[in-house]
Amino acid sequence: MEYLKTTHDVYKEAAITPDVGLCCTTTPLWKLPGLIIPIRMQEMNYGCGSTVHPRDLSGNPKVLYVGVGGGMELLQFAYFSREKGGVVGVDVVDEMLEASKDNFKLAENENNWFKSDFVTLKKGDALNLPVPDNSIDVAAQNCLFNIFKMTELKQALKEMYRVLKTNGRLVMSDPICDQPMNETLRNDDRLRALCLSGSIPLKEYIKMLTDVGFGTIEIRAKRPYRILDPLNYRY
Ligand SMILES: C[S@@+](CC[C@H](N)C(=O)[O-])C[C@H]1O[C@@H](n2cnc3c(N)ncnc32)[C@H](O)[C@@H]1O
Repeated sequence: MEYLKTTHDVYKEAAITPDVGLCCTTTPLWKLPGLIIPIRMQEMNYGCGSTVHPRDLSGNPKVLYVGVGGGMELLQFAYFSREKGGVVGVDVVDEMLEASKDNFKLAENENNWFKSDFVTLKKGDALNLPVPDNSIDVAAQNCLFNIFKMTELKQALKEMYRVLKTNGRLVMSDPICDQPMNETLRNDDRLRALCLSGSIPLKEYIKMLTDVGFGTIEIRAKRPYRILDPLNYRY
């Protein structure tokens, strides 16, 4: 599909040359004792919000992170797990896997608690995860699924459901859009790849999740994004 190829190309470029602010909006970074996030990793923060929350991370969960980007959130997950292979990262773009691998080496130099082998990187597609059924406690993605059109979004959610253990958790951070967006924007492959025109209303997203089988849904944070008329914005 053409939009998936455009997405691949956009992130291939963004892996070769970090592109600050390429995607979505920046959110304050986690400030945790002893955690230093290398500058290059910060420059490659292509996500929004955060999927890392200590509440999900007790009892040494096996974490899967789909769409690794520069690896910043995987480093933050590893901060809590601190064991070999505790976090598995999957990405479809070779160059992104290489860039994040380099960034983990930088992180290893800057954080005495961190070892690159805390993170296992795998080449693979969110639509066909290279991960066994029923093997993950916490599955996370940040700013990838909003790029997918409905058929692919459903497939990506099904894949997350497949790999999660019973009582496992899916944690996601994505832009949502509660106002209608015209078809020209929706069908612009590049804007979609940049997380600007693929988002859907929250209600629709929640229905997709429950249709796939996910149970209790918790909305942890909602942040306004580029509001043109802040006085009329309501949560
Ligand atoms: C918007 S970036 C988000 C990166 C990262 N989650 C972050 O917060 O910085 C999307 C990421 O998903 C990867 N990606 C794109 N299509 C994918 C697919 N079909 N399956 C897995 N990863 C994909 C890209 O290479 C890129 O790393």
